[in-house]
Amino acid sequence: MPYATITGVGAYLPKRVLTNRDLEAMVDTSDEWIITRTGIRERRIVDEAESTSTLGAAAARAALKDAGLKAKDLDLLVVGTTSPDHIFPSTGALIQRLIGARCPAVDVMAACTSFVYALQHATSAVESGRASRVLVVGADALTRYVDFTDRTTCVLFGDGAGAVVLEAADEPGVLGIDLGTDGTGSDVLTIKAGGSAFPCTAERLDGREQYLRMSGSEVFKFAVRVIPETTLRALAASNLSIDDVDWLVPHQANQRILDTVEQRLGIPHNRVFSNIASVGNTSSASIPLALNDLYTDGQLHPGDILVLVGFGAGLTWGAAIVRWTKGSAE
Ligand code: UT7
Repeated sequence: MPYATITGVGAYLPKRVLTNRDLEAMVDTSDEWIITRTGIRERRIVDEAESTSTLGAAAARAALKDAGLKAKDLDLLVVGTTSPDHIFPSTGALIQRLIGARCPAVDVMAACTSFVYALQHATSAVESGRASRVLVVGADALTRYVDFTDRTTCVLFGDGAGAVVLEAADEPGVLGIDLGTDGTGSDVLTIKAGGSAFPCTAERLDGREQYLRMSGSEVFKFAVRVIPETTLRALAASNLSIDDVDWLVPHQANQRILDTVEQRLGIPHNRVFSNIASVGNTSSASIPLALNDLYTDGQLHPGDILVLVGFGAGLTWGAAIVRWTKGSAE
């Protein structure tokens, strides 16, 4: 059975910056509240010409370049996203066209856990021998679905994309993945209108039902429970313990969530990666963006053990244990 390993990493952030001061002018909030309650200082947001597919395509090109591959070399493209360009066609199809690939392309939707789910699909394809060069993209333009009159959510989210190339290899890279879903929590974090249950009508648009709604404290409690659980399960399945972990690369939703997880796992602070201050919660893009920051900072070394761990609406969660087999970024 071939192993699957990461051979390329790339990311893209839109140029437009939205600071906490900008948000102070839009809703009843303050820079101080946002920083102390979330750790976020600024985030990037798409402009009129951009969308999830354009962000994803930019990250995809960067990851392909890093892997030394062309789009035509790909056997499969898997896109994790929760803010697709359209209901259909898939954002995978749009990214495929933008980068000039010819392989099958598909979207995987598990809200902010989408990237980990997409990585699982890609890993299975490589390990089964059905594909040997797979591009995995995590991309979201969730600010398109954020209600900029709702201070409880609009301060949290930003846009962006990250991507990895996964290739068949002789030595193990992706060691194991733990995934989970609890649909009984599906009401906690939603975008209600726009699908087949609640098609967009003028009435629903007036009620602002096309926007994201969240019970923040419910999600917080869920996150600080499930991140340690899924991390420890995935590590145990890979015959590893928390002491073996060089980098915990968590979904960036709230610095207080990261701090609580750090305490609960008993992992040193300098092994828990955070870039939330500059990007906010970028949903499916969050984990590959974090990975790209670590990589381009020269923080990853061959043999390092990484935990890519996420949680999100659904409710969903997942952790991937990755043994880094690449060198540092050039
Ligand atoms: O990708 C996964 C998605 N989401 C998450 O992971 C989010 C998880 N949850 C959280 O990060 C936190 O629950 C929030 C950041 C969303 C909220 O923080 P909190 O400490 O749980 O605040 P809270 O909801 O308990 O609200 C405390 C107070 C409330 O005022 P009162 O009722 O005490 O007077 C809110 O109305 O803070 C108020 N508040 C704000 N004040 C200023 C809520 N949002 C804001 C705001 N600015 N932006």
